[in-house]
Amino acid sequence: MTYKAKTFDLPALSGLSEKQIKVHLGLYEGYVKHANLIMEKIQSLKEADAEGNAYLVSELRRRFAFEFDGMRMHEYYFEQFEGGTAAMNQDSPFAGAVAEKYGDQGLVAHIKEVAGSRGIGWVVVYSDPRAATLHTVFVNDHELGQLAGLPILLALDLWEHAFMVDYVPAEKKDYIDAFFANLNWSVVEKRFDEAIRMSAA
Ligand SMILES: [Fe+2]
Repeated sequence: MTYKAKTFDLPALSGLSEKQIKVHLGLYEGYVKHANLIMEKIQSLKEADAEGNAYLVSELRRRFAFEFDGMRMHEYYFEQFEGGTAAMNQDSPFAGAVAEKYGDQGLVAHIKEVAGSRGIGWVVVYSDPRAATLHTVFVNDHELGQLAGLPILLALDLWEHAFMVDYVPAEKKDYIDAFFANLNWSVVEKRFDEAIRMSAA
């Protein structure tokens, strides 16, 4: 099988230019291409000389998570802008879980705190249905620090490529504000509901 780049039905965004989004979507398509390419390379190296290429194959397998997660994380990211900005529904089950975990600080303030981590990567909010809680972590690159098996609810791209067409590095906070200004929280709420449904199935 091969992965195909998704297309996203994105509205005009506030604080994120068309050029910024175009450049970023181009990078996303690169991850899709390279996820496919690694799978093909592993196959062809094994077919050519499984023993002689064993090191190469094992290094490519290690590398696969970088390309695969680079692809999938961007899908989580861009989907969050589809449908236009929508505030969090305070009556939703997700909002209840947020209030329980993040209380007075609130989720957005907590995400901004985690986003202050040094390095390139993502802030990811997960649901852990087994423990009926949420986790917010910093993922380095695309794959280092992901929590095994937990459904992703929200993905904030903090690679510089996500904002450097529109902002300089010192303006990262403005990019994060723009991210939240455009975020469709109903997408996040639906992911939460789906995670709960899947864990109950
Ligand atoms: Fe990105």
